[in-house]
Amino acid sequence: MEHHPQTLGEFIISNQKDFEYSSGELTRLLNCIRLAAKVVNHEIRQAGLVDITGTIGNVNVQGEEQKKLDVFANDVFINALTNRNIVCGIVSEENEDFITISGANNAHRNKYVVVMDPLDGSSNIDAGVSVGTIFGIYRRISPEGTPVTREDFLQPGNMQVAAGYVIYGTSTILVYTTGNGVNGFTLNPAIGTYYLSHPNIRMPEQGRVYSVNEGYYVHFPQGVKDYIKYCQKEEDDRPYTSRYIGSMVSDIHRNLVQGGIYIYPKSSEREDGKLRLVYECNPIAFIVEQAGGHATDGHGRILDIKPQDLHQRVPLFAGSKKMVEKAMSFLK
Ligand code: AHG
Ligand code: MN
Ligand code: MN
Ligand code: MN
Repeated sequence: MEHHPQTLGEFIISNQKDFEYSSGELTRLLNCIRLAAKVVNHEIRQAGLVDITGTIGNVNVQGEEQKKLDVFANDVFINALTNRNIVCGIVSEENEDFITISGANNAHRNKYVVVMDPLDGSSNIDAGVSVGTIFGIYRRISPEGTPVTREDFLQPGNMQVAAGYVIYGTSTILVYTTGNGVNGFTLNPAIGTYYLSHPNIRMPEQGRVYSVNEGYYVHFPQGVKDYIKYCQKEEDDRPYTSRYIGSMVSDIHRNLVQGGIYIYPKSSEREDGKLRLVYECNPIAFIVEQAGGHATDGHGRILDIKPQDLHQRVPLFAGSKKMVEKAMSFLK
């Protein structure tokens, strides 16, 4: 019989001993995310045909024009997680406050909470360019059986049990870690099955791609300007190639596979940068570190930052170990 790559379901079963799957809750949680991602994927692939492009005339807590697909993706993930009674609470980019899953069906007994960016790179949707979903999973720290609290969502990223992203690109790939390395699963849309396509992803220690929005160059700190000029210098293995997609998931995925560095620094216009710590930087930092890369805010590990606010922003330098180290040497 022709050997087919492992499905995501088979992968989870075969790794049962290694992961936090013992109670089955994490397995059910990941199964819920993969189902919701299939629904979002289906809608994205036909965005131009259904009334799902454009904005809904609403500004979210970030001060951003909410896209229809932002809201659609948010609803799909929240409904899937709620209806299957898998978590006790959710934080989303698109919701100002945290969501308490009602105690109706005893959801207060569930031990996990999820933080998520349901649709990353919204500005790309109407342009037909790839977007993503980002999620992180924590064990609750408030007493079991009680309603979830804000502190459950303000744990440092180093407390994540699992983290992952889905990239809706030339193919739809679910990439996640539970702290035992990083694996990628490509969706076969014809049958709705994810197959192991990127086993044990290791980020090259050195890359030749840098990703930063140079449109803001004049507003960057001098050290960041100096690093960008370093990347462009004609010497050694440089100049590097510049790639900036406008969806962090896409830039991070390419850099994870090929090597590279993604930078969203602070600037004179954005004192803390743009990216949100809880549901963008922490999940991405967990994945990048698990693949052998580094993720820092310019001072220390992203994963060691104690969040103060659900939508707190931090600067991000994430990617190949040697590239992040070199970038940091310009910040001193
Ligand atoms: P989101 O679409 O979830 O709000 O996040 C978009 C983020 C990130 O994905 C992307 O790299 C960055 O914003 C692009 O911001 P700029 O347009 O300021 O470069
Ligand atoms: Mn947004
Ligand atoms: Mn985002
Ligand atoms: Mn988003």
